Amino acid sequence: MGGWTAPLLWAAVVPFVRGRMVTGDVDRAGTRIDELFETMRAFAEAAADYQRLLDTVAERVTRFMGDGCTVFLGTEDGQWLRPAAIYNRDEAAMSLMQRTFSDLPVRLDGESFVARVMRTGGVVIVPAIDPELAARRYSPETPAPVAAALSGAHLQSLLCVPLQVHDSRLGVLALSRNRVGETPFSQEDETCARTLAEYAALAIANAMLLESQKRELATRRRAEEETKKFVALVQRSRDFIAMAGFDGRVLFINDAGRDLLGIPVGLDVTALPLADFHTDEGMGRAAILRAQGHWEGEGHLRHFGTQALIPTQISSFLVRTSEGEPLCYATVQRDLRETRRLEAHLRQVQKMEAVGRLAGGVAHDFNNLLSVILSYSWMLLDGLPKDSPFREDAQEIHTAGERAAALTQQLLAFSRQQVLELRIADLNEILAGMAKLTRRLLGEDIELVTTPGVGLRQIKVDPGQIEQVILNLAVNSRDAMPDGGTLSISTGNVDLDEAYAASHAGVSPGPYVLMTVSDTGVGIDEATIHRIFEPFFTTKPTGKGTGLGLATVFGVVKQSGGHITVASELGKGATFKVYLPRYDGGRPSAPAPRPAASIAPRASGTILLVEEDAQVRTLMQGILHRAGYRVLDAPGPLEAARESDQFSGDIDLLVTDVVMPKMNGRQLAEHVARKHPAARVIYVSGYSEEAVLDHGGLDEDVELLKKPVTPAGLLQRVRRVLEG
Ligand SMILES: Nc1ncnc2c1ncn2[C@@H]1O[C@H](COP(=O)(O)OP(=O)(O)OP(=O)(O)O)[C@@H](O)[C@H]1O
Ligand SMILES: [Mg+2]
Repeated sequence: MGGWTAPLLWAAVVPFVRGRMVTGDVDRAGTRIDELFETMRAFAEAAADYQRLLDTVAERVTRFMGDGCTVFLGTEDGQWLRPAAIYNRDEAAMSLMQRTFSDLPVRLDGESFVARVMRTGGVVIVPAIDPELAARRYSPETPAPVAAALSGAHLQSLLCVPLQVHDSRLGVLALSRNRVGETPFSQEDETCARTLAEYAALAIANAMLLESQKRELATRRRAEEETKKFVALVQRSRDFIAMAGFDGRVLFINDAGRDLLGIPVGLDVTALPLADFHTDEGMGRAAILRAQGHWEGEGHLRHFGTQALIPTQISSFLVRTSEGEPLCYATVQRDLRETRRLEAHLRQVQKMEAVGRLAGGVAHDFNNLLSVILSYSWMLLDGLPKDSPFREDAQEIHTAGERAAALTQQLLAFSRQQVLELRIADLNEILAGMAKLTRRLLGEDIELVTTPGVGLRQIKVDPGQIEQVILNLAVNSRDAMPDGGTLSISTGNVDLDEAYAASHAGVSPGPYVLMTVSDTGVGIDEATIHRIFEPFFTTKPTGKGTGLGLATVFGVVKQSGGHITVASELGKGATFKVYLPRYDGGRPSAPAPRPAASIAPRASGTILLVEEDAQVRTLMQGILHRAGYRVLDAPGPLEAARESDQFSGDIDLLVTDVVMPKMNGRQLAEHVARKHPAARVIYVSGYSEEAVLDHGGLDEDVELLKKPVTPAGLLQRVRRVLEG
């Protein structure tokens, strides 16, 4: 309070000395001075809290020299005066005034007393207020409630002084005295009120300053928080995000970007030229950005260490100041390598599928033709005398037919159209059963190391086909190790999770049995590895390889619901991983009996034969008839059904195609069983169709004869079924 000077104090006390203290009671003057000090101190103390200060001013000024006080403050737009604090000695009057005035600012260009004081900086004293008139001046639009409030608060006399600090007017202090008891304000009170207003204004100005500083600080803190959030967003993003200056220098690269480009930790990127990471094409985009403001498309980034080009999806733009001046370049780029890999994989899968469908269709017709060629050439051979000059010719036809049948089988295998004879099996047992053959195949220079997994789970596969898979892989490894080496085959249980499935086209997550086949051979280079599963792709000289080995492996594995991967590097050997779906529940099935070589002696029984291909039907009918069976034949399921209904005797066996239009083999079998419950069934099929078969394979308890049909195969199966 060091700045308090005697003249000021005197000025504050003078009116009382002159006006009221006619008795010259010096003690009372002293008390007033104390009160004044007290008031000033209260202002100072409240200055830290803006609203509390305004309330304190209204209350203290009232207590010092009136019955009520309202602090009006000018609004920022300079148009209004707003009642910021209202006090009255009488509580009822105070709440009435607060209710009426708190939300009722007064126009600065109006007729009210406070507006006039604010405009002129002068003082207004109204010794006796006319509530109606005052209300109309204060609120020309809604004078009634104002008038009611003024009367209700018993307002009699008003003294308005400006709240002013140096040249700036903050508002107006409006003091009031009540009609009851008090003397109206006089000229004498003015000096005192001015002094109080002066100090109140100073305190308010300080508080305003403090308040605005607080607001500014809070705003800055909020801005900092916002900035932090954005930095986190940019840094945490998995995309490459960077900024660069027009001088071709890097300004910023986010963490993901540093990772992508392989920028060493701690290296200051601002020292690096942009051209280090961009292709010429990328650098050329700067001009487009300057001209258009943005660029979107695909391009490349260059790896800091390896210099390898990384394909990216790019969105670049020009960053501008709020005035619209170009500031720097910014770019967001997404690594496209994984997307590209998946796309390539998908294309490959689709290509294989298309080739497979075509091959499957061809093989289906081939099987019928081959049934005819093989069977008639066989019967020809069987019938010709030992010394016939035609024997050799017939043998040639038969051998060519057999080779064509093997090729057709392979076509069906990789096109996943072959009929699988599913059995519940143990992969370790299949491997053990083949160990001898595999060793012989590999030769002496190659060591075979098998590591069967402990507690290996079962799989549901066609064991013969899985053997084919193992053989094809082993033969390839042998060919890749002309100077010897090691072939390792191991098995184990694995679980493929969602993440793995998502990143490998056509794989479902779940439990699998894994067979890993790896060799120490020449390995496979990057360009070749993408093509090895394609049918007819081979790097072997003409006549050495057909390129169907791995295509067959792929087809069998896929048809078994499995998945295969290959990893290799030139000179570092190759590793194939075959995943086969785990089968839970059930005991291993007994192995399917292998057909014996000879034809059965004469037999008897009635067979209903259904075959759509006329030539094959005639052939089969002939074979069965010659063997002694009575044969009812039908070109389709509907005719067969009719035949079954009308035949008066017993039908012992139904030999039918699996896939037929209108009614499939299984449905026909059900129909025949109604009239001939003892009839057994043999299905004949050349390729699978999902509508009828489970996973491309008939269930294990079903009798299945694969096409092409041969006399021995047909008769053997018929006899076994009829006798078994
Ligand atoms: N273990 C391996 N090591 C190195 N290269 C391999 C290996 N397995 C396969 N390949 C490559 O994949 C190609 C295709 O193999 P695939 O088994 O399909 O056909 P092939 O062996 O050439 O002929 P086929 O198996 O029909 O006799 C091979 O020619 C070879 O280049
Ligand atoms: Mg091969």
